[in-house]
Amino acid sequence: MCFYIYRIMNVRTSRLIFLLLAALTSATPPGNSTGQRFVVVFPENIAYYYPTSSQNKVWVTALHNATQVTVASQTQTLNSGQTSSFNTDVELKKLDVPGSQMNPPYEAFSVSNDTVQVTSNKNIIVQAFSMRKLSIQTALVIPTDKLGTKYFIPPVPQILGTTDGPVTPNVTERGPFRVIIVNSQQQNTVTFKGQGETSVTLQSNQVAQIWVPNDTTKQVVVSQFPVAVLFSHPCAMKYGCTCGLLTAALPPARDRSVKFPVPMLLAQNASVLQSDNRSSSVVPLNLNSTLVESSGTVVLYRPGLLLTLIPETEFASCFLVPSMQSNNGFIIIVVNKNSTSGIHIGTSQLQNPMWQELDGTDYISTNLSVTSDTTVVWHESSTMAVYFVANQSNLWFGNPAAVISSTPDFRGCAVTAEVVEVQSSAYSWTESIGSCKNETLELISLSDGRFQSQICTKLRQDSPQDVWIGVRRSSMTGDWYWLNNNPFTNTNWADGEPGGVEEGQCAVMSLNNNCGWRDEDCCKAIRPVCYQGPELLKLS
Ligand SMILES: *[C@@H]1O[C@H](CO)[C@@H](O)[C@H](O)[C@H]1NC(C)=O
Ligand SMILES: *[C@@H]1O[C@H](CO)[C@@H](O)[C@H](O)[C@H]1NC(C)=O
Ligand SMILES: *[C@@H]1O[C@H](CO)[C@@H](O)[C@H](O)[C@H]1NC(C)=O
Ligand SMILES: *[C@@H]1O[C@H](CO)[C@@H](O)[C@H](O)[C@H]1NC(C)=O
Ligand SMILES: *[C@@H]1O[C@H](CO)[C@@H](O)[C@H](O)[C@H]1NC(C)=O
Ligand SMILES: *[C@@H]1O[C@H](CO)[C@@H](O)[C@H](O)[C@H]1NC(C)=O
Ligand SMILES: *[C@@H]1O[C@H](CO)[C@@H](O)[C@H](O)[C@H]1NC(C)=O
Ligand SMILES: *[C@@H]1O[C@H](CO)[C@@H](O)[C@H](O)[C@H]1NC(C)=O
Ligand SMILES: *[C@@H]1O[C@H](CO)[C@@H](O)[C@H](O)[C@H]1NC(C)=O
Ligand SMILES: *[C@@H]1O[C@H](CO)[C@@H](O)[C@H](O)[C@H]1NC(C)=O
Ligand SMILES: *[C@@H]1O[C@H](CO)[C@@H](O)[C@H](O)[C@H]1NC(C)=O
Ligand SMILES: *[C@@H]1O[C@H](CO)[C@@H](O)[C@H](O)[C@H]1NC(C)=O
Repeated sequence: MCFYIYRIMNVRTSRLIFLLLAALTSATPPGNSTGQRFVVVFPENIAYYYPTSSQNKVWVTALHNATQVTVASQTQTLNSGQTSSFNTDVELKKLDVPGSQMNPPYEAFSVSNDTVQVTSNKNIIVQAFSMRKLSIQTALVIPTDKLGTKYFIPPVPQILGTTDGPVTPNVTERGPFRVIIVNSQQQNTVTFKGQGETSVTLQSNQVAQIWVPNDTTKQVVVSQFPVAVLFSHPCAMKYGCTCGLLTAALPPARDRSVKFPVPMLLAQNASVLQSDNRSSSVVPLNLNSTLVESSGTVVLYRPGLLLTLIPETEFASCFLVPSMQSNNGFIIIVVNKNSTSGIHIGTSQLQNPMWQELDGTDYISTNLSVTSDTTVVWHESSTMAVYFVANQSNLWFGNPAAVISSTPDFRGCAVTAEVVEVQSSAYSWTESIGSCKNETLELISLSDGRFQSQICTKLRQDSPQDVWIGVRRSSMTGDWYWLNNNPFTNTNWADGEPGGVEEGQCAVMSLNNNCGWRDEDCCKAIRPVCYQGPELLKLS
């Protein structure tokens, strides 16, 4: 869960390794939503021949200043926290295969070039907005370096007017659900495995669609190189006699079974679609048991909405909720009962929301109205799951919110991790300053109470010991001062500390439960804690 860089090493080798780690910090963003290369598809919405044209958009959010973004052939420069919307008329068409839906067999891939490429020089978040008339869906686009080579396809939910009433023995009037497979850069062979097995070779940035038969066999997509996989229906029945796009980006198969808390606020008439290497099932949502275990795909279905769920292991500390001009947007938060304080929406702290328990779990959830266009939801000290849903004329759409950061920071959303390092060699206090500087770090100053507990939580996982911190007594006045010149408040002296001037002019921190301080002889050789702050997302 922890992505901050915490290193204990020999000083001689540390400089080289620091360079490697520094490279790693920027190349390995926290979470699976941020990256620099994306291939976006817009699934067929209602029907390719529908007389109203689509208004599809790619939303790009920058995490750093001077981020240069290219969407298809349009280029823009964005700053930290800024979102830009790019219009596109690219949309997938019907499945164009020999032997149409009315004329089985239809178990073949339909291949198209209808993708939008998004690239940037720094990490960004990309979301797709599909709209044709009132048929709206949003999707979080996974960057190409976070994709997988194996995906479990969810079972097809029973949708009145969509999946019942076959016109031909195995095809319904509106056509079955489909799986959409998006290739990134190299030539790639992808296979859909159900009762049978169908393969296709894709060129770079191509997309393949195939219908999902309704059978109880586990259905899997495997590929030679990573691909993105979507589960979609262009015109699934919603309420009354209205149909619209249903779509969900699937997560790659995981290497172990994980637990998915199901937010209860969307529970009316909902079911859970679960598929992994053990089973594939559609289960009505049981309000008594709100935890689903799977190593594959878990999707919540309720009329008009497919919502891919977030497992405990992928809870994060900072999320981006997409830009919406609608007044009916909701943020859904799932968090451990212990950690309900310290949640922020943008720059303001969340005030007394209505929490609802997830029975049989340690979690509670809440929903909040989205009031601004783009919103950042973050937790000071814990991780959580955040979803975005919206309702337009009682038609729902939404997706899991994009992860900006997985490591909680009381100051906001860290887009690069803070560096906290206990050096492996011991130095005098004065040498420690230089020893940290040699790695472009600072001997740590702990002038804020929340900062102290954040650092203490990270460091006390190590075996208890004393470490130098950046505080000492002025030889002029005898007053304590921090190396970073912050006011000397929020002190954390251990019981009976500090002693008189003769006991030491510098201070150590003991890595025990409370991380208390004690004055110490500045010439003693002790290992220093070196530090570098994170880069924070600009919040508005
Ligand atoms: C990213 O996704 C993979 C596969 O779904 C998962 O194993 C991993 O934990 C995810 N990482 C984060 C930080 O969520
Ligand atoms: C990004 O630019 C804004 C002003 O445009 C500035 O306030 C902020 O400090 C910059 N952030 C970083 C990390 O440089
Ligand atoms: C896709 O593009 C390639 C060349 O870039 C072309 O040869 C091929 O015919 C196109 N395929 C479709 C389905 O349009
Ligand atoms: C799928 O098939 C099973 C059994 O053949 C049937 O009970 C179920 O209703 C079907 N589901 C859909 C969505 O058509
Ligand atoms: C479609 O129906 C035909 C005739 O009932 C059957 O032979 C064939 O196996 C079916 N295909 C699938 C994918 O179910
Ligand atoms: C299913 O996959 C998980 C994780 O990949 C693995 O631990 C488990 O043994 C597999 N179970 C079966 C029945 O193959
Ligand atoms: C949000 O919560 C309220 C109160 O629990 C509930 O009435 C409402 O239906 C919820 N909305 C959504 C979108 O879940
Ligand atoms: C739940 O489904 C029933 C019929 O299946 C329907 O009458 C009712 O309106 C639905 N409720 C909601 C909140 O969707
Ligand atoms: C949920 O629990 C209640 C009481 O504890 C019980 O009456 C009900 O049958 C349970 N529902 C399900 C679906 O298990
Ligand atoms: C939550 O609190 C309980 C007791 O109050 C404790 O046993 C548990 O470990 C805590 N869980 C977390 C995740 O902090
Ligand atoms: C959904 O939106 C409609 C208006 O578009 C509103 O009347 C209805 O109350 C909303 N439903 C919920 C649960 O917010
Ligand atoms: C810092 O680097 C300089 C130059 O390489 C070296 O002379 C000095 O001993 C180093 N200081 C410490 C404390 O390692």
